[in-house]
Amino acid sequence: MQRFRSQTAALSTAFLLLSLGTALAHGQSTRGGDDLRLLDHVTEYHSLPDGIDLRSGGAREQITALRDDVLRIRITRGSSLPEDASWAVLPESRRSSVKVTPESTGDRVGFHTDALRVEIDKNTMALTVSDLEAHVIQKDSKPARFEGDTFRLYKAMGHDEHFFGLGDKTGPLDRRNEAFTLWNTDAYRFQESTDPIYKAIPFFMTYDGGRAAGVLLDNTWRSSFDFGKASADMYSFGAANGPVDYYVMYGPSPKQVVESYAWLTGKPPLPPMWMLGFQQSRYTYVPQSRVLEIADHLRADHIPADALYLDIDFQDRNRPFTVDTKLFPDFTGMIDKLKAENFHVVAITDLHIANAPHQDYAPYDSGIAGDQFVKNPDGSVFTGIVWPGPSVFPDFTQQQTRAWWSTLYKEFVHDGVAGFWNDMNEPSVFNTPSKTMPEDVVHRIDEPGFAKRTATHAEIHNMYGMENSRATFEGLLKLDPNTRPFVLTRASYAGGQRYAATWTGDNSASWNHLRMTTPMIENLGLSGFSFSGADVGGFAGSPQMDLLTKWLEIAAFQPIDRDHSEKGTADQEPWAGGSEQETIRKRFIEERYHLLPYLYTLADETSRTGLPMVRPLFLEFPHAFPDSHPMDVDPAAAGEFLLGGDLLIAPPHYPDELDSYSVEFPSRDWYDYWTGEKIPVPVAVASTNSPQPVDPNTIAPLTIQVKPELASLPVYVRAGAILPMQPLVQSTNETPKGPLTLRVYAGEAGSPCSGELYLDDGKSFAYQHGEYLRMKFSCEVTADGLRLHIGAHEGSYPAWWKEIRAEFYGLQPKQYRAAVKGREVTAEQSAAHISVEAADDAKGLDIEVK
Ligand code: NOJ
Repeated sequence: MQRFRSQTAALSTAFLLLSLGTALAHGQSTRGGDDLRLLDHVTEYHSLPDGIDLRSGGAREQITALRDDVLRIRITRGSSLPEDASWAVLPESRRSSVKVTPESTGDRVGFHTDALRVEIDKNTMALTVSDLEAHVIQKDSKPARFEGDTFRLYKAMGHDEHFFGLGDKTGPLDRRNEAFTLWNTDAYRFQESTDPIYKAIPFFMTYDGGRAAGVLLDNTWRSSFDFGKASADMYSFGAANGPVDYYVMYGPSPKQVVESYAWLTGKPPLPPMWMLGFQQSRYTYVPQSRVLEIADHLRADHIPADALYLDIDFQDRNRPFTVDTKLFPDFTGMIDKLKAENFHVVAITDLHIANAPHQDYAPYDSGIAGDQFVKNPDGSVFTGIVWPGPSVFPDFTQQQTRAWWSTLYKEFVHDGVAGFWNDMNEPSVFNTPSKTMPEDVVHRIDEPGFAKRTATHAEIHNMYGMENSRATFEGLLKLDPNTRPFVLTRASYAGGQRYAATWTGDNSASWNHLRMTTPMIENLGLSGFSFSGADVGGFAGSPQMDLLTKWLEIAAFQPIDRDHSEKGTADQEPWAGGSEQETIRKRFIEERYHLLPYLYTLADETSRTGLPMVRPLFLEFPHAFPDSHPMDVDPAAAGEFLLGGDLLIAPPHYPDELDSYSVEFPSRDWYDYWTGEKIPVPVAVASTNSPQPVDPNTIAPLTIQVKPELASLPVYVRAGAILPMQPLVQSTNETPKGPLTLRVYAGEAGSPCSGELYLDDGKSFAYQHGEYLRMKFSCEVTADGLRLHIGAHEGSYPAWWKEIRAEFYGLQPKQYRAAVKGREVTAEQSAAHISVEAADDAKGLDIEVK
């Protein structure tokens, strides 16, 4: 153990700062308003087996390595560190540690792990984190600033550093030059510059020259992030109060950062398969006959669909956990009928409970009896006006309140309601100036791993919605332990992906909102929330019919495809506007259902790794360009996104654009998804006549010009992909009839070619006991054709197909012969592909065409 003590340490202001530290341990106010720059030189330090502990006068900084590539940094104004508890970070991750090697050179102290070097300048206390090849990943640019209860940390910003994450914030994908506040807000009709909005996810990714790192500021108070807006060479983050407790995760690849963030805060659980089906919603389908009419219309027009939503007016006087029996005279009969038609009903259950004493309103009566509601500072129950009028609010920071909340779902679960929608949980309150609970409202934290104490709403606000969705998720699991819950939440915090999917709130029926949807979903995905969507067609206002069509086309390739709109707007179901529009929209919804095996395999990948379904291009192709900048920021690639690693969706940046636009590809080999044709690669021309090999820097990116059309959406497949697809069904409940199709897209000889398929019953947890089906596929370009290797079935879940239909794309034009397991079979030849059908005996097989 090393120890360093400077002269100045002797004049420790220990007494003052010790008491300050205790007061600050839970983020309580010290109210001085003074500017305390406490961390500006090292007065003392000692090495820890997993890090280093430093003092600067009475202040303290502790840096520990949870893994070789994940650091935790805690700073306190006093000598004792704040309570080691977190709503976001998993206890097992928080408690992990690795042994580090202490280092001390000249003016610097620190340590290194097998991946990172941590150095603190003794004279300035500046922290530098670099990799072992001396690439700086993060560097303090000036001392942390403490002012009153607030703190702010400053980091040097590279000339070409980019920033991603922070959940559903609006604006461009890259957050550079922008500043954001995290304070969950009901942002009805938010616009492109609106901030804050619904979620507070204090996680961001920095990306510079191909090297990515993640930062999670685990602080639930109002926080703020400035990515070079206030200063051209610095980014900064801080909070209004609470602990300075942040994590740095190093890639270098952006995918590794996303996976490390999932390691820290948890992965989204595998959703029920029906979440991936088409979902139809409106505020509100009433009465009962209207819900059934919508269902009938979808089925009559053969528009595949899986979910129907019940918004607030299905309830008695908007009171959560009730049903308006005048509007829904046979609620259970309706659910049964919809179930029989393979629909899954999602009911809204907002968290505000009507303040309705002596009215036989069980949620209120049982909640009051169990002391479940948050209180005013004077001890009375806080009341605020929301949809049901005066309402009270459960204190989800208490474990027992969450347990009580779960009991409220009993009847709905019994009735067969399949999913639940937690809205308004920022929380939204109509009659307060802040439109949420006053900050001095009192919560009573009573939670394993936390000290039992009271906390003001200012501390709890940003994670209140997450704990609401947690209570719902855990409650549903308790009520029906073998069914995967589906919870949709509007507000959340870091880690909220463990409990719920999400949507981007009250957008508008405008082309600009359609454009904004993609970066919001991409940044949510980088921030843990893979399963997200926007209100398709727009919530506020009525969409032009072409807008609705285009939106339904794009959303068919996004994780949650839910058509939803506000009260009083024109109809926006897929048939709105006539049969010409409907035909186009239906074709895209059908395509989504053909792609279900691919979508569900991606959902499984998310649940195992945290990698999002929808991905910005730089996540898969960080080195698309020689300078490794994120190509998503290029005007030529704006509007594009990836669905998994294999599909590139490329609407124009401005989706209402009528002029031709260029699609920029992240690599050279792509196919048109619709036609199966290879995208022609222009012959690379070397810029010099030198005999040297062609410098890749001189090769222009592959781009093509596309003319936008209402009825089409450019979608491309990566060469080397093997896409699993299925025959059309009208609902995920239906068993597809026919073969499993594997579309094999040949790449260059020797280049990787693979695919995967994951399947299970789509509903239960039987997959955790081996009842799943996983198959791996690979292909290789042979001297005269292609060979596809289909792996044996892993797991015990039976396939719905007997035959596999392999479609080979990208072969040279000639007459082909095909062989399955070495035996010649007939192959069908069409313009873009050769197809072969083969029985799948689950043991694996090779199909060759030559
Ligand atoms: C606000 C939600 O964002 C919206 O989707 C919903 O329809 C309304 N509340 C009514 O519940």
